[in-house]
Amino acid sequence: SFEDGHRMWLRYETVKNIELLEQYKSRFASVVLNDNSGTMSAIKKELKIGLKGLLSIAPQFRRTIDRDGAILISTPESPALKTSLKKVLIKELKSVGNEGFILQKRSVNGYDTTIISANTDIGLLYGTFHLLRLMQTGKSLSRLNIKEFPEVQLRVANHWDNIDRSVERGYAGLSLWDWKTLPNYKDPRYTDYARLSSSVGINGVVINNVNANAEFITSRYLDRIATLANIFRPYGIKIYLSINFNSPQLLGNLNTADPLDEDVREWWRSKVQEIYNKIPDMGGFLVKADSEGQPGPNTYGRTHSDGANLLADALKPHGGIVMWRAFVYGEKQEDRIREAYDEFVPLDGEFNDNVILQVKKGPLDFMPMEPFSPLFGAMPNTNTMIEFQVTQEYLGNANHLLYKGKMYNKILMSDTYAHGKGTLVGDIISGKIFKYNLTGMAGVINPGTARNWTGHPFVQSSWYAFGRLAWNYQLDPDKIAREWIQMTFSNEEKVVEKIQKIMSISSEAAVNYREPLGLTHIGTGSHYGPAPWSKRSQIFHHADEVGIGFNRSTSGSSAVSQYHEPLASEFNNLSTIPEELLLWFHHVRWDYTMKSGNSLWEELVNHYHVGVNQVREMQELWDFLENEIDTERFNHVKSLLEIQERDAVRWRDACLLYFQSFSRKEIPKRYEQPK
Ligand code: GCU
Repeated sequence: SFEDGHRMWLRYETVKNIELLEQYKSRFASVVLNDNSGTMSAIKKELKIGLKGLLSIAPQFRRTIDRDGAILISTPESPALKTSLKKVLIKELKSVGNEGFILQKRSVNGYDTTIISANTDIGLLYGTFHLLRLMQTGKSLSRLNIKEFPEVQLRVANHWDNIDRSVERGYAGLSLWDWKTLPNYKDPRYTDYARLSSSVGINGVVINNVNANAEFITSRYLDRIATLANIFRPYGIKIYLSINFNSPQLLGNLNTADPLDEDVREWWRSKVQEIYNKIPDMGGFLVKADSEGQPGPNTYGRTHSDGANLLADALKPHGGIVMWRAFVYGEKQEDRIREAYDEFVPLDGEFNDNVILQVKKGPLDFMPMEPFSPLFGAMPNTNTMIEFQVTQEYLGNANHLLYKGKMYNKILMSDTYAHGKGTLVGDIISGKIFKYNLTGMAGVINPGTARNWTGHPFVQSSWYAFGRLAWNYQLDPDKIAREWIQMTFSNEEKVVEKIQKIMSISSEAAVNYREPLGLTHIGTGSHYGPAPWSKRSQIFHHADEVGIGFNRSTSGSSAVSQYHEPLASEFNNLSTIPEELLLWFHHVRWDYTMKSGNSLWEELVNHYHVGVNQVREMQELWDFLENEIDTERFNHVKSLLEIQERDAVRWRDACLLYFQSFSRKEIPKRYEQPK
């Protein structure tokens, strides 16, 4: 089959297991739904596509249940339901909210029926995708009783797309949004994008780069954006816009953008009104302010909360929100990773209730390995959401095979100790600890016009995992990987097993051959290759004759103190710090004895070699799949793994040779390369 990756995880391959195939067909004797909204039509459309692929049948849509094996897709209001059943469903749906659903087998009018029920049509759509997923992953439908609802409210894809269709940190072609042919031409890809997003529960999309071009909120673009909003709406997806804080000056000819200036406030009110006239359900704004050259309230002697509240006030009457990013750093601080915490903690409680602080997962950036940001757990009175990156900015771009599900899981499951033991980052961002009225998870996804959307086919797996974890942060990342493989590649156990192994190794490998033991930011300016010798890298690794690593303990920058106890002490102490974060927090002697008994130098050498070997293991595992999956994807990934192996060797050799010039220690003989 021709380049199957373009359908991503909505591939809907024919069910090969005959028993399951028969069972599924018998459950789909008819489909009863009331096609009275865009969302219900989307459900119908998805079922047509899905059942054609999975079962080679066309669904029989009916108005009433008149046979065994019906699928009833309905809110409790449906005329197809008797009062008694209505009452039962209303009760059961109390706990699932606006987006949740139940999926169960029941007898209706004496007929054996599968019910998808929800309080809203969107809930029904999520339930439908869930049912399709069960079939894609070979699950039995004979005893269904599922209740699902999302753990966080805002599950938002962030695109870093520019107005000229280039994509910042995008490695998969041009931006999906074609401003030159919108609003007239509605590329079917926009609908596929909405289907894919909705299938994993994503309900928001920021369509433009955080380094925002102000033009996006001019009428010329708003008309086009409104067209996208119309396409996304039936799929439960709201559009959000990144705005430039200086817009009143750039677009409105004001001579200031001071958030406390009355003309500025009026300008935003009327701009927001204009936007809502065109897009009545626009979600709100995402703002990068006073960071990396972006304008912001600091220019006018105002705080982040002044800036955020200015926009929040303008959006409030329309139900819009502000996602205000905490990714800030100037050149002023000795230790950049301290900055977000130092700037935002004093502002806790100053933000309006329709503002949510969007905090990157770690205190630095989207590094291969870093601790969780200490802001999680430090903002009891400010809604706080987490930002992950799907696109592989620091992780081999679209050339390296990487599944990030395990990396996300690690952060979400980190204990902040904000309210004693067991206060996980996931608990914080889902509002369980501080009673946030807004909760959310953002993922910088950066797909593009590449036929398979993401460049490397496995970037899809991180996109998928982001959506699934935003829905439920407690999901097991290995199970998510399994689902994705089954939906994307095959249900054959030997295939699933091999690919799962590859994905499982991939995140460890990525750290080992690049930045092990808590090293960070030692890449080139483009963030692709190794450059430990660069000025910027030196600021982070601090290698010298004595040792290597950044002293952030209480004898250094004291960034450890931004964490709650007992974590602060655990990080501060060489004997208790997890070794994977050792050099993040400490400058350690080359001859320091590690837990393994190796010296630090030997351990570093070992990690880099293990990393390269892991990539080779991934290659071997992949080679098993030669005749098990389609040739196109097999060959594509095989070639990319060759590049990854080459790069892993480069990272290893560049880093070790450079660090060796400080450590002046030998690379142990056992690591010698065959000549
Ligand atoms: C990183 C990235 C930038 C991006 C920035 C951000 O620094 O390299 O391209 O703009 O993060 O998240 O704002």
